[in-house]
Amino acid sequence: AKITYIAPDGQEFVVEAAAGTTVMENAVRNDVPGIEAECGGACSCATCHVYVDEEWMDAVGQPEVMEEDMLDFAYDVRPNSRLSCQIRVTDALDGLIVRIPERQG
Ligand code: FES
Repeated sequence: AKITYIAPDGQEFVVEAAAGTTVMENAVRNDVPGIEAECGGACSCATCHVYVDEEWMDAVGQPEVMEEDMLDFAYDVRPNSRLSCQIRVTDALDGLIVRIPERQG
């Protein structure tokens, strides 16, 4: 699946992501800046925060309770905020667009 990450300055990073990997892993692997992922994907750091493009919110779905609690620690949380380590790539997410926040934490 193709994923586009948009940096706060508008720069776009397009990566090809394998099904079953997470949106966070693909950012880290491809050196997309601004996703720190300090805990390595354990849903316990909130430094992999992204904003899901409005068009994609239904496809991505809602965060689970543990993620929602952790999101409270993220900077500038919005209704479309998600922790990217908790978004698993599927074929249905081909074309997904996420935006990277100004800063993490
Ligand atoms: Fe730590 Fe996602 S990488 S919460």
